[in-house]
Amino acid sequence: MHISISLAALITLASAAVIPDPELDRRQEDAVITWRDCTWEKGLLEADLDEMQALARKAAEHVDTTPELFRAFFGQEPPRTNIRDSTIKKRYTAVSNFKSKPKKSVTIRCNTDSIPACKPANHVVAADKGGPNIYICNSYWHTRKDALLRKMSPSRHPLRYGPLDEYIPIGSQLMHELTHVWFITEDHNITNPASGQIENVYGHRNSLLLARESAQKARENADNYKMFAIASYFDSSHWSVDPDRLSGDPEL
Ligand SMILES: *[C@@H]1O[C@H](CO)[C@@H](O)[C@H](O)[C@H]1NC(C)=O
Ligand SMILES: [Zn+2]
Repeated sequence: MHISISLAALITLASAAVIPDPELDRRQEDAVITWRDCTWEKGLLEADLDEMQALARKAAEHVDTTPELFRAFFGQEPPRTNIRDSTIKKRYTAVSNFKSKPKKSVTIRCNTDSIPACKPANHVVAADKGGPNIYICNSYWHTRKDALLRKMSPSRHPLRYGPLDEYIPIGSQLMHELTHVWFITEDHNITNPASGQIENVYGHRNSLLLARESAQKARENADNYKMFAIASYFDSSHWSVDPDRLSGDPEL
């Protein structure tokens, strides 16, 4: 009796010591990964998810170790933001543990011909904001051939100011979608300063431009997570942190 009271007291103490985390970043204990309509695809996707996790692991490290790169993609932590620097690190850590400890259930769906999100021919992968679905579109399998992280050789990295956009691993595309599912990220828009056109914030330059315009929006934007992870994975010193200085710019 004495022991069970002590245990109960201990358990109460232990749960009281856990600081309630109101953020979305909290893990659901019953979260699972479900596969739907995937057969031969599953083994390949498992490998791609390993690459996604490797990218996320590097990004989580680089939040602290390469502050200049981090600020370039996420800006200076805004006062009273709900997405602090530490939140971003936690998000990457959560992605790096996707398979072993999913923080929220995800359904990975193959053979998505009839899914509207996969109708635009260029869509490689898509997701429902807030989940649970990640759709593997048909063009995924074409894109994947030249987009395996393990086949991207660091020695082939471009010189300074080279755009990261030539090095988009398929695992980073999965990461982009997973951030829509888990962290309710957006695909923000930005006005292209050169053309005046409104564009989605995808890719190296637009991610840097968005971070310069609004740190809060950058922290909400799916591709900023993707691009910072790619830059982190490869030798970060090669990558431009200045949207006005990327190779391919006419003035360079
Ligand atoms: C970006 O623009 C598109 C097209 O106008 C719009 O549908 C979408 O909601 C915009 N995204 C955000 C995050 O505002
Ligand atoms: Zn998106």
